[in-house]
Amino acid sequence: MSDKAITSTGQAWEEQARNWITWVRTPELDSYWRYRSAFFELVPDSGRSTLDLGCGEGRVARDLAARGHRVTGVDASPTLIGAASAAHPEGEYTVADAADLPFPDDSFDLAIAYNSLIDVDDLPGAVREAGRVLRPGGRLVLSILHPANTGIRTGEGDDLAFVVDGSYFTSRRTEDLVERQGISMKFTGYQRPLSAYTRALEETGFLIEAVREPIATRADGSPHRLPWHLWIKAIRHPGSVL
Ligand SMILES: C[S@@+](CC[C@H](N)C(=O)[O-])C[C@H]1O[C@@H](n2cnc3c(N)ncnc32)[C@H](O)[C@@H]1O
Repeated sequence: MSDKAITSTGQAWEEQARNWITWVRTPELDSYWRYRSAFFELVPDSGRSTLDLGCGEGRVARDLAARGHRVTGVDASPTLIGAASAAHPEGEYTVADAADLPFPDDSFDLAIAYNSLIDVDDLPGAVREAGRVLRPGGRLVLSILHPANTGIRTGEGDDLAFVVDGSYFTSRRTEDLVERQGISMKFTGYQRPLSAYTRALEETGFLIEAVREPIATRADGSPHRLPWHLWIKAIRHPGSVL
């Protein structure tokens, strides 16, 4: 497999792939492990044909498979796709740009995008493609970092007075170097206002069914002052023509 990713942030993730694999596979290091039970309450039942968009090394796909979903994972990083396949040989994992999916129309009942739409270069294109490959009535469940948090805060700690870094309304590429337990990880993605996501959903014919701001806690259980994640469940309107 080539070690070249197919999009710009995808290439940044490819370069960080080894760090990311260590990061997510170190118990309790990443917040996913604290949020996943609540997140899965939003995910429709098992037994479905499910697409994991921006699957990374496959932790969400494996959790979906453990709940009975037939999972296909796509990611822009070849190394992460290789790791996802090796950890779950029964799953189907493919290198692809979320904004240019190699699947026919109406192929899936459900698409999950866990903290991946914050990283894609072409957000409207990725949401449009999710709509195209979902059957009418299919659902997209997504998690993003809450734009009201990442848009007004700089740095890791949230005991500081909040600082607006530029304008909340301006989309911009971000790079954050984080070190925890001796593991360094550079996160490359985009800060976009919430309306960038809701507009992309609207324009694709998705109807939003649920929005959640889960209570955010630190690893020691103490609460954050701002929400850290935002979760949206949307349905591809049965009458929508894409
Ligand atoms: C924060 S990671 C999340 C990975 C996975 N969903 C998880 O929670 O473990 C974001 C992922 O999005 C992928 N990504 C970025 N741009 C992409 C694109 N255009 N198409 C597909 N995947 C992309 C990255 O390679 C990375 O694996």
